[in-house]
Amino acid sequence: MGMWWIVAVAILAHTASAAVREYAWEVEYKFGWPDCKEGMVMAVNGQFPGPTIHALAGDTIVVHLTNKLATEGLVIHWHGIRQLGSPWADGAAGVTQCAISPGETFTYNFTVDKPGTHFYHGHYGMQRSAGLYGSLIIDVAKGKKEPLRYDGEFNLLLSDWWHEDVLSQEIGLSSRPMRWIGEAQSILINGRGQFNCSLAAQFSSTSLPTCTFKEGDQCAPQRLHVEPNKTYRIRLASSTALASLNFAVQGHKLVVVEADGNYITPFTTDDIDIYSGETYSVLLTTDQDPSQNYYISAGVRGRKPNTPPALTVLNYVTALSSQLPTSPPPETPRWNDFDRSKNFSKKIFAAMGSPSPPETFDERLILLNTQNLIDGFTKWAINNVSLAVPGTPYLGSVKYNLRTGFNRSSPPKDYPVDYDIMNPPRNRNTKQGNGIYVFPFNVTVDVILQNANGLNANASEIHPWHLHGHDFWVLGYGEGKFKPGIDEKTYNLKNPSLRNTVALYPYGWTALRFVTDNPGVWFFHCHIEPHLHMGMGVVFAEGLNRIGKVPDEALGCGLTKQFLMNRNNP
Ligand code: C2O
Ligand code: CU
Repeated sequence: MGMWWIVAVAILAHTASAAVREYAWEVEYKFGWPDCKEGMVMAVNGQFPGPTIHALAGDTIVVHLTNKLATEGLVIHWHGIRQLGSPWADGAAGVTQCAISPGETFTYNFTVDKPGTHFYHGHYGMQRSAGLYGSLIIDVAKGKKEPLRYDGEFNLLLSDWWHEDVLSQEIGLSSRPMRWIGEAQSILINGRGQFNCSLAAQFSSTSLPTCTFKEGDQCAPQRLHVEPNKTYRIRLASSTALASLNFAVQGHKLVVVEADGNYITPFTTDDIDIYSGETYSVLLTTDQDPSQNYYISAGVRGRKPNTPPALTVLNYVTALSSQLPTSPPPETPRWNDFDRSKNFSKKIFAAMGSPSPPETFDERLILLNTQNLIDGFTKWAINNVSLAVPGTPYLGSVKYNLRTGFNRSSPPKDYPVDYDIMNPPRNRNTKQGNGIYVFPFNVTVDVILQNANGLNANASEIHPWHLHGHDFWVLGYGEGKFKPGIDEKTYNLKNPSLRNTVALYPYGWTALRFVTDNPGVWFFHCHIEPHLHMGMGVVFAEGLNRIGKVPDEALGCGLTKQFLMNRNNP
């Protein structure tokens, strides 16, 4: 088998320290035991989760990605990497490239410009739900100083896991009536969870038995081994398909220092809410009784939980590794205490010295999030358009000006003033569309995400929105309908955090701002996998006449395929 494994090559680059890190990856399905029960997982070079990429700021990453799946296309998105100058390498199927066909290899090539905690994941169909994800950690460049001090670090990638296979989930979501996927069976930490047993059985009110593991079990938790009186950095990333999580370490405070690859003003907390698509770094000081071990937990919030929290153990090396903690794991805060969730979000401010936002905007979108029906099919819609990504990638259509690749009229930039966000939609119908928002180069765009009631009365959900190609400033959160001309006054323009993912809370609004300084076509969508599958996204395009070369290999489908054939063989 022609597997080159991981070849990290340091090439003589212009800057002495920047390296090229080159990987050959093969993706295939295999059987795995993520939560002790056998299921199909998507594996990269046989590993689930996929291998962690470690790089330094300024490095170039080259991934030769081979699709070894028998019957499905494939792409990988580098979540949190802005792809400055390489929009074609963003890995969003239908937006920046064609899905890679079975048997084919596609090469991603991009630079990682700044340090941060990120991850990568599948971005075609619901392949992220199927387990196609891994960590992507960028450290400060050689010779540069990290503005944090710690003695060691851990990297925890959080996800949720279903026993129903993902293809079946997709069919259910696209059925009439829709069959909802339900809550996850397990929450996983670095791909490991425990179904039908508990690491804290002796404390739990349920009748779950204590987990026992055999040597080498894929579902045995990874314990975090620490020395007393040291400080550790814990990198957290959430690749969940659905779950909002609350992370806590029994008896220990957490100092939050990084969010989505940007330093923030440090603050101390007992626990941390993390939504799908978000990443954080926290510092933990091992100042507790060193003869004990402590539970680490990640429990579900934001939806009525029907999934036990993921657990592992913080093991002081001065205690026995196998010894379980003597008191119960941290209790996950009440799932629907949204005020608590908002208070947490509102504690996040940019670190001193971070770039501040332009004081005004040039263009503004107000995006109403609704759940709707089309002929009895359940959809999510933005300003009454449910996104259906076309067969020709947008990047190819705009690069080569193929007029019929998608609908060239802009989707609505606002929603009707009399829309009642507190109740189910009066008109439940929506339409599918593939129009995009086009912005000139280097303008300031504000986006107001506006939440509303879903199809059922008294239900409005959290949606974590993720933007590709950018970090944005989080200007503020508010209740009810956004009031133009009034609510802007509440914006934080002094030290808003820069992020790539932000939560939209039930019945509220979230305001963000970014500058269109990265020519390309960028997905902006709810990071809940089934919501995206049901159309909950929009597409931004900017600086279209400044898009550089796009490799032909990215565009071998749809209208671009014919176009390139004609151009290359006139
Ligand atoms: Cu991590 Cu378009 O998503
Ligand atoms: Cu959503």
